[in-house]
Amino acid sequence: MKISLVGAGNVGSLTAMRLAQENLGQLVLIDIAGDMACGKAYDLEDAQPILKYAYNIKGTNDIKEIKDSDLIIITAGLVRKPGMTREDLLIKNATILKSISLEIKETAPQAIIIVVTNPLDLMTYFVLKATGFNKNRVLGMGINLDAARFANLISKELNIPVTDIEASVIGTHGETMIPLPRFTNIKGVALDEFLDDKKMENLINKTKARGAQIVSLLGNGSAYFAPSAAITAVARAILKDEKRALGASAYLDGEYGLKDVTIGVPCRLGKEGVEKIIELDLTASEKKDLANSAETIRNLAKQLPL
Ligand code: NAI
Ligand code: 2OP
Repeated sequence: MKISLVGAGNVGSLTAMRLAQENLGQLVLIDIAGDMACGKAYDLEDAQPILKYAYNIKGTNDIKEIKDSDLIIITAGLVRKPGMTREDLLIKNATILKSISLEIKETAPQAIIIVVTNPLDLMTYFVLKATGFNKNRVLGMGINLDAARFANLISKELNIPVTDIEASVIGTHGETMIPLPRFTNIKGVALDEFLDDKKMENLINKTKARGAQIVSLLGNGSAYFAPSAAITAVARAILKDEKRALGASAYLDGEYGLKDVTIGVPCRLGKEGVEKIIELDLTASEKKDLANSAETIRNLAKQLPL
């Protein structure tokens, strides 16, 4: 399998390291910043004798090297600064992703694309429309990360091993994300059995603010360790045809009563990309939150240079 990573900054290069260490395919790391991607690929190569296993990675600034890719992971673009929302990046990152999308359409028309660049759901929609690919072949990684953050915060609050927790988040990878206590469980028992309303609200708010908290603490850039792990899980599910249920930003065509929007929902991921949208049995209030979340995406999508 050939995997191209477009963007070799913090998230792209760390994802390349994780993919290499799992030997998930032949890797190409691409970045427009001079020879930086080449330098990072050499550095990753040099680790092989120490790790005692071999992998295949190449770095380049030539986007044409995406040719014959089975999977393309896009992390190219700007990162928010402290005080900015992910949506503040909209126009600049759309401009960057437009040329990348057109290149993918021409040079790697068979690829499945995982979008990571923010604002995530809007960039996923934009890449889908700009490439004209089928809806199953373009998906965004965002709520998988949010679910991991929710699980980690629950684990700390309840002093329960993080491995016992299956957390669920739907909606945008943004201010209107919807952590779902009813679909989050600890060894099969729903989270709302463990926490009173006030503690639950506090955990949900902390989950929503986690990305901004990390941006503020870093002072320069945004999170990359957990994001790269979350991207790797999505990539693995596709490359190994795991048919695994994972949250991803996917194009809805009537599911959840929503049309023509990409938003975070549980999906079955396999070799065809998004093989199925899994429809949770939401309450009226959860459905309303999801519809509101979709509305924020639709409103901002009007600004996209399509
Ligand atoms: P970074 O600044 O470390 O790396 C971005 C890289 O993109 C830079 O090296 C830059 O030279 C490159 N780039 C810009 N235009 C390009 C082009 N046309 N072709 C190839 N490369 C190009 O940023 P980082 O931390 O890697 O984040 C990247 C993006 O991912 C940001 O938009 C960030 O907000 C987003 N992100 C999304 C997450 C999610 O859960 N969806 C999680 C973490 C980051
Ligand atoms: C995050 O949530 C920046 O979207 C990225 O950390």
